[in-house]
Amino acid sequence: MNVFGVDIGGSGIKGAPVDLTRGELTADRFKLLTPQPATPDAVADTVREVVANFGWSGRPVGVTFPGVVVQGTTRTAANVAKEWVGVDAAGLLAARLGAPVTVLNDADAAGLAEMYYGAARGRRGTVVLLTFGTGIGSAVFSDGRLLPNTELGHLELNGHDAETRASTRAKEEEELSWAHWARRVQRYLVHVEKLFSPELFVIGGGVSRKAEKFLPLIEGVSAEIVPARLMNNAGIVGAAMAAGAAWPDPVVAA
Ligand code: BGC
Repeated sequence: MNVFGVDIGGSGIKGAPVDLTRGELTADRFKLLTPQPATPDAVADTVREVVANFGWSGRPVGVTFPGVVVQGTTRTAANVAKEWVGVDAAGLLAARLGAPVTVLNDADAAGLAEMYYGAARGRRGTVVLLTFGTGIGSAVFSDGRLLPNTELGHLELNGHDAETRASTRAKEEEELSWAHWARRVQRYLVHVEKLFSPELFVIGGGVSRKAEKFLPLIEGVSAEIVPARLMNNAGIVGAAMAAGAAWPDPVVAA
């Protein structure tokens, strides 16, 4: 089955049709800049443009969101416009796209993709995927089953919201060396390990492409640590997976 996946990020909104039997995009993804301010209305219009670029209509669409999503409603908005809090995002997008829509947290989507097609494929036990980017996203799995919206990026680390210290945005803004940033990531992983004792950490986000620069520097973590494999496409693939799984019972435009 082919399902369309859209990944809403702080800087770009990208999408492509996904072949769910292989977990691969069936066409090159199309990306537009995230409108600023990233209000629900403006973002919904951009999502529509991305989907329309493929002539996709009427069939299921999965969409990621960089915040908590419960039953299609967005509950937090750490790195997008605050107007998203309390919005029926699935209903808004279903109406705008004229298609059934499933919305889920961006890191949860990336986690689903890595769990079924990528670095954590077939892994049992507790697996924690962390995405490092503008914020830190998390996806927690027990025997392959997702516990959604864990938001581990907002754990407290040395008196700070962890993502303000250990995200790649913090690395860039503070111009931290790889070694300095790796020490912060290490402290963060040690903390998450105390809480969940995972067997495997999957490190995602754009920085997973540069894993060799910082993963070898991390010590004191018992769990295996591996970079994500789907790179930039994990969100799109995971969004499509969620929409495919919800079908034929997703949000359908009234
Ligand atoms: C948000 C999470 C999101 C992560 C990555 C955090 O600030 O609270 O929901 O998964 O950023 O985008």
